[in-house]
Amino acid sequence: MLIKRPSDIREHEVTDFALYQRRREFLKTLGGFALLGASGLPLVAHGKSAFSTDDEPTPYDDIVNYNNFIELGTGKEAPAENAALLKTSPWSVTVDGECAKPGQFTLEDILKPHPTEERIYRLRCVEGWSMVIPWQGFPLAALLKRFQPTSKAKYVSFETLLDRARMPGQKRNPIGWPYTEGLRMDEAMHPLSFIATGLYGATLPAQSGAPLRLVVPWKYGYKSIKSIVRIRFVEQQPATSWSVEVPDEYGFYANVNPEVDHPRWSQRKERRIGEFLKRETLPFNGYAEQVASLYSGMDLRANF
Ligand code: MTE
Repeated sequence: MLIKRPSDIREHEVTDFALYQRRREFLKTLGGFALLGASGLPLVAHGKSAFSTDDEPTPYDDIVNYNNFIELGTGKEAPAENAALLKTSPWSVTVDGECAKPGQFTLEDILKPHPTEERIYRLRCVEGWSMVIPWQGFPLAALLKRFQPTSKAKYVSFETLLDRARMPGQKRNPIGWPYTEGLRMDEAMHPLSFIATGLYGATLPAQSGAPLRLVVPWKYGYKSIKSIVRIRFVEQQPATSWSVEVPDEYGFYANVNPEVDHPRWSQRKERRIGEFLKRETLPFNGYAEQVASLYSGMDLRANF
């Protein structure tokens, strides 16, 4: 296999990664689990996070060289190849809509108040492949609460950076730009919903959605919008990129569901990157116990 190191990964981050792996092995032998602080040091080394899967994490090189990020190119390797173009400094995030404390925030404003923790999550792409990714970041709910959403905030929408120089894929229009996604407020506030700022103990690489991305592990990967610059609280269900572009194939909810086929293929099985035999796809990507109640009484075929 061709092993590439993305050009935006600096030497100290690679060192951190090696240290991180050793630390993980160490904590594993203790039967422990690490929560990493901003310093990268374990904060807690006992008990197992209720949020992390036991599945074996996908190797780092696969996670950062097999991506969907059409702003950095179509094809799985293009995002890594173009990663250096996505400069993440300066970066700001605009928060507006139905909230008491809107504003434009620097990346530091957004990230600083939140202690970093680790979540090992399954990611299931609607195309039929999956990975297991050790993310670092913090719960989305903690971030959203800071802006004091009003009672009219029924949904939250997110937008990716719109900038043709930093996002060369935006020179063409396979979909309308910017990439947008959205969640119902109760989904956004669910403890599994996460903002990732790193993976495998290193700063999030550009191709993975630097400097901050959403991760919603029970939904198809397209909900996990990358490189976020805007968060808006809204009353009505927001338009989201793929559901606008191809509404009969990609729904707003996008809950992983082996019972509901994509119009052009089955969703019963998935190929875990690095594995030979296909696996059965699990309802809500294996998180049914935690999230199924969010959808009680809903027809999940109609609301796919
Ligand atoms: N976010 C933006 N802005 N642009 C994209 O093309 N692709 C989505 C999602 N977030 C995408 C995006 C899709 S289809 C998937 S499967 C995941 O990112 C892939 O995340 P990964 O490349 O980190 O595995």
